[in-house]
Amino acid sequence: LRHVPVITIDGPTASGKGTLASAVAEALGYHFLDSGAVYRATALSALRAGLAPDDEAALAALARALPLAFRGRRILLDGEEVQEQLRREDVGLLASRIASLGAVRQALRQLQLDHRRVPGLVADGRDMGTVVFPQADLKVFLTASAATRAGRRHAQLLARGESANIDSLRLDLESRDERDRNRTHAPLRPAEDAVLLDNSALSVDETVAAVLKAWESRRRFG
Ligand code: CDP
Ligand code: CDP
Repeated sequence: LRHVPVITIDGPTASGKGTLASAVAEALGYHFLDSGAVYRATALSALRAGLAPDDEAALAALARALPLAFRGRRILLDGEEVQEQLRREDVGLLASRIASLGAVRQALRQLQLDHRRVPGLVADGRDMGTVVFPQADLKVFLTASAATRAGRRHAQLLARGESANIDSLRLDLESRDERDRNRTHAPLRPAEDAVLLDNSALSVDETVAAVLKAWESRRRFG
């Protein structure tokens, strides 16, 4: 049986995981999984169905049957393009709340595992290296200072023509990180065998190059 390599990139919000993971996937010709989008799609679905954010059984049932498909940059929920709606603040907030529910995480596990296909996968999120792909070939834990991350989110919002206050963005991301770190199920933390990478002072290209270099030496020296 052919081994299908997996590279995981975990870290806090706005550390650049998505940007890094998709660039690495493209450079290697691998598939890319944005697991945050899986939680966000579950949240959007729950909002539409009017489910209470603490109704674990109903949320898990919804997650188990989530009609979600990734098509390049497009994300389809029951056939409808939702990639823009998934970025909504209320969706992100609810995603982070329901992501603390063990039954929801369990229900979304197989959907994520199914993305491991030849020739390989780059997956980004919070628990890719610790829970979903513990046997991954390379695990990266990406961090940057809170000030840097708030600045990045701010720039992203401005680029989309939305206004935002950088101080409140920073408070938001720090409280979301806090919840992700302190939850019982799959808390945000580096896997024991993860490479720690702080990209506060690195450009996107430098960060991508660092990971491709780590991958190259991993392949060469096992
Ligand atoms: O874009 P941002 O970093 O703010 O969030 P995201 O990666 O889209 O994920 C949204 C929320 O889903 C996060 O706040 C996490 O609570 C949750 N999540 C998770 O628990 N596990 C993952 N593997 C990915 C996301
Ligand atoms: O997925 P995550 O929430 O961790 O971050 P992202 O959505 O990839 O956003 C990171 C933002 O910071 C993007 O606009 C990047 O262009 C920018 N950035 C980066 O990702 N890496 C750097 N080294 C510098 C800036």
